[in-house]
This record gives sequence, C-alpha cells and structure tokens, in this order.
Amino acid sequence: MDTILNVAVVGCGYWGPNLIRNFSSLPECLVKQVCDTDESRLKHMKKLYPSVTTTREFEELVNDKELDAIVVATPVHLHHELAKKSLLAGKHTFIEKPMATSSAECEELVTQAEKNKLTLMVGHTFIYSTPVRKIKEIVDSGDIGEIQYISSRRLNLGLFQKDINVTWDLAPHDISIILYFMGKPPISINCQGKAHVNPNIEDVTNMSLNFENGGFAIIHSSWLDPNKVREMVIVGSKRMIVYNDNEPLEKIKIYDKRVEAPPHYDTFAEFHYSYHYGDAYIPYLKQVEPLKVETQHFLDCIRKGQKPETNGLEGLRVVQILEASSRSLKNDGAKVEIDLELGKKPVVA
Ligand SMILES: NC(=O)c1ccc[n+]([C@@H]2O[C@H](COP(=O)([O-])OP(=O)(O)OC[C@H]3O[C@@H](n4cnc5c(N)ncnc54)[C@H](O)[C@@H]3O)[C@@H](O)[C@H]2O)c1
Repeated sequence: MDTILNVAVVGCGYWGPNLIRNFSSLPECLVKQVCDTDESRLKHMKKLYPSVTTTREFEELVNDKELDAIVVATPVHLHHELAKKSLLAGKHTFIEKPMATSSAECEELVTQAEKNKLTLMVGHTFIYSTPVRKIKEIVDSGDIGEIQYISSRRLNLGLFQKDINVTWDLAPHDISIILYFMGKPPISINCQGKAHVNPNIEDVTNMSLNFENGGFAIIHSSWLDPNKVREMVIVGSKRMIVYNDNEPLEKIKIYDKRVEAPPHYDTFAEFHYSYHYGDAYIPYLKQVEPLKVETQHFLDCIRKGQKPETNGLEGLRVVQILEASSRSLKNDGAKVEIDLELGKKPVVA
C-alpha cells in the first residue's frame, strides 16, 4: 500500500488537536475529516486546517468509503462504542489511552480487529518517547543491574475528568512505561485514594504493583497538587536512574550509587552496609516529539500489516491493571491478585 492514507480524528478537545497536527505533518497521510459534537471546536479546527471536512456526526466517518483509519480522542466512556463502529466499518483504529472503561470492552475490540485484519493501536505515548526508549536500552543492557523497584509520580492541579478517576486518567502512562521496563506483568495490585473535589471520583491515589521475585513499583497520581511533577526513579541493584520529564534537555540522570549489605556476619561489629557513591551521567537524547513517532508508527503498521508496539493487547493489559486498582480502592487498599501474561491472547467467549 503506497497510496496516501486517509485519516479522520474524532474528538477535538484538549488532546485531539495534537493528534491532528502530527498526522497532518506526515506526508504519507491526509487528515480528511475531523468530528466533534461541539461546533466551536470544529470551527477552530477548520481555521487551522482549511482543507479538512468537519462534521458533528460520527456516522459520516464510518460511512466514508475513502477513509482508511479513524483516531478516537474523545472522553474515555465513548472509546469502546466509537472504536467498535470504526472496526466494524473496516477502518484501522487508533484509540487514546486508556483503551476503554473495562477489560471486556477491550477484549471485544481486540477480537474485532483480528477478525477484520485491521490495525488496532492504543495511545500509550511515552513508549514512543526518546527518554523512555533510552532507559529501556540501559535496563536491557544490564547496566543498572536487576530492577529492585520503580517509583513514579505524576502530579498536577487538574485537569479534573468527569468519567474517570485520577488513576484511570494519569496512571495509564506510568503503567505502560513500567510494563515496558519490567518486561513482565505484575502479580498483584494495591491502591488507596481519596475523592476531595467530586464525590466518588478519586483525585489522589497511590498504587503499588508487585512482581514475581520481589520486583515492586509505586505510582502516585494526583490532580490536586501545587506542582506539575513527572518523575520516575528506577532503582537497580548496581545503579539508579532518575527520569524527570519536566526537564527540557537533561531528562535522564544515571547515578552510580548502591547499597550492599554483607552476605553474612557473626558479630554486630562485623556488620557494615557498604554505600557506593560514584559519578552521575546524563546521556544525550535526541529531541523528537513522541506523538510524531507514535502517529508515524500507526501508519507504518497499517502499511506493513504489522502489530503496533502498543497494540490492543497492550491496551487491554493496562486496563486490567486499572480494573484491579479500582477493586482494591473499593476495599481500602486490599491486595488484588491478577494473572496477566503479556502477549497472551484474551479468552473471548
Ligand atoms: N496520550 C496522551 O498523552 C493524552 C493526553 C491527554 C489526553 N489523552 C486522552 O485523550 C482523550 C481525550 O481527552 P481530552 O483531554 O482531549 O478530552 P476533552 O474533553 O478535552 O476533549 C474531548 C472532545 O471530544 C468531544 N466529544 C465528546 N463526545 C463526542 C462524540 N460523541 N462525538 C464526537 N466528539 C465528541 C468533546 O466535545 C471534546 O471536544 C482521552 O482518552 C484522554 O485520556 C491522552
């Protein structure tokens, strides 16, 4: 397939315009239509992209025989309904994160895409970012040793969502990155949180993910914090990495620091921790917009008939973890065991 791919984007609120801008910048694709129920958003998009057709009716996208792909960037409760219609109409489909509001919905979309041999991709944007890819390379090289734990903080004031809590809104990023680094799914989840602004919609949560053989990750998500924080610390048995996504250039620092306890000792006097303090190193990172890589990857996968890195199954894994976090939240942080196998297909009735 070497013709131009015709793409439509549904949802032109905060995030949709970023997708429209990136798809529009790719020479092998044409943003043919954009859809939103809000006329003022459509007027704004028409001003920015005069050649684009605008519509308030999603059915017009589904019925457009010239469209190859539909990108869903609406509120989460609509993802399943719109993506299902898109797949049933034979369109390759990109869905923003989180993929849907339940794993059952995700499984249905994965099955539908496979049945119709269509590309299904989820917008786990950070997997396409240079710092995350660099850290993965360092982790896989064995340079930091075995990951002992990961701690992630994604905090800011707002944007409050009406249909999902802060975990479902912000933590999909942390979860997808942590699964990417760990290369395996967690075996249990705990999550606690509180709703301060909207009743029943938690605006601050703390999730922990437990992995086989002792691996551990903590995710702190908040819409109620004075500072915008985007920080992840990866503690390895040999070295430690601090990833601060708010830093304009020096987003990753690798610290040659570790603590070693003596393997055995007979008297208290013989017991010494050994603290190792070495240099810190800042790797060079090429400046590329992750969304550009992500949108290009979607088009490449359509053309080559390949599975995207963040395909429907990966989207499903993240939603399964979010579901487990919601079950734990309801039980005041009780441990919820989960059995996910990355890359294993869901059993769909
Ligand atoms: N990948 C990322 O880094 C990232 C960042 C922000 C948001 N997102 C995701 O993008 C999606 C949209 O989030 P947002 O913050 O832009 O939301 P938003 O509320 O700002 O925008 C949603 C838009 O969808 C429109 N809409 C609602 N119902 C519709 C319908 N039936 N048909 C057509 N349009 C409809 C609304 O009018 C609005 O303009 C969410 O899934 C969110 O999680 C992803």
